[in-house]
Amino acid sequence: MQILVTGGAGYIGSHTVVELLAQGHEVVVLDDLSNASAEALRRVGEIAGREVELLEVDVTDEAAVLAALEGARPEAVVHFAALKAVGESVEQPERYYRTNVGGTLNLVRAMDAVGCRTLVFSSSATVYGAATQMPLTEDSPLGATNPYGWTKFMTEQVLRDVAASDERWSVALLRYFNPVGAHPSGRIGEDPRGVPNNLVPFIAQVAVGRREQLTVFGDDFDTPDGTGVRDYIHVVDLAEGHVAALAKISGPDGVRGAHAWNLGTGTGSSVRQVVAAFERASGREVPVRVAPRRAGDVATSYADPARARDELGWTARRGLDEMCEDTWRWQSGNPQGYATS
Ligand code: UFG
Repeated sequence: MQILVTGGAGYIGSHTVVELLAQGHEVVVLDDLSNASAEALRRVGEIAGREVELLEVDVTDEAAVLAALEGARPEAVVHFAALKAVGESVEQPERYYRTNVGGTLNLVRAMDAVGCRTLVFSSSATVYGAATQMPLTEDSPLGATNPYGWTKFMTEQVLRDVAASDERWSVALLRYFNPVGAHPSGRIGEDPRGVPNNLVPFIAQVAVGRREQLTVFGDDFDTPDGTGVRDYIHVVDLAEGHVAALAKISGPDGVRGAHAWNLGTGTGSSVRQVVAAFERASGREVPVRVAPRRAGDVATSYADPARARDELGWTARRGLDEMCEDTWRWQSGNPQGYATS
């Protein structure tokens, strides 16, 4: 298939492009490079053995999005392009709604105009809000605790309504748990700008010597060791989940309508367990200090991944040690990310 991938130069996008190319699909990437690097795509081309075309377009630019779709004539779209920092979304809500919700509206309008109605959407376990009943199934109650979370919640609703209005639409709402790890080649990985918000990139930068110590946000949660428990999923497993979802919703026999699937492992790991696994993988010590809880953090979050297994034939296969080993290969080989390596 001819596939347009928005946000395809970013962390999850670049890994997904690798897997799509490996399946024989043709890929065009739409990305404004605001939190991504053209170098990532160049390396994706290296891994895949063929170059990937980049359209430097901002999803909030309606005319440019339409022109891109008219040029690329995709048969399906995988939509990653969005802002994703929780704290920043509290400071700049309008920008988050404009980019994440408005950007998706631009994309849907352009897709409809060119007759492409097959869409895989990058959603998040954040749509389960402050749910406490674990594991989370696709039928768990939805909500949000910050503007970023509301943008994912609202975009899912927009896409459900669009799919309900016209039976030609097929939409996969993929709810990611905590993506970590890197391609086993060590050539592409997560390269956050500024201070990492997320646990594993922060640990990796401590291990490689860019930062002194990890701050553990709370060790008084109701969990076995007191630190927060999350469902970490290897980014290559996640990328394979996109390929499986696309296969499910595309072609003449593809499932129509909008459907949500959790992409997680079903296993939770605590902050201390992740630190220990990273120390084993890297052979480096990761000094930590404990600080108060971060606003909005829940004690525990992990998926029930049964629906994706049963309906997509997909399961996450890579464990925490492999996630840390692959992250370390990427981080140690590219200490400054894509910048100077
Ligand atoms: N943590 C630390 N120190 C850090 C960073 C994180 O102790 O420097 C802890 C957090 O308190 C949490 C765990 O590590 O217990 C994971 O935190 P992340 O920030 O890596 O991930 P979250 O689960 O908080 O957030 C992720 C996504 C968000 C999404 C959210 C809910 O990054 O986009 O899941 O789905 F909104």
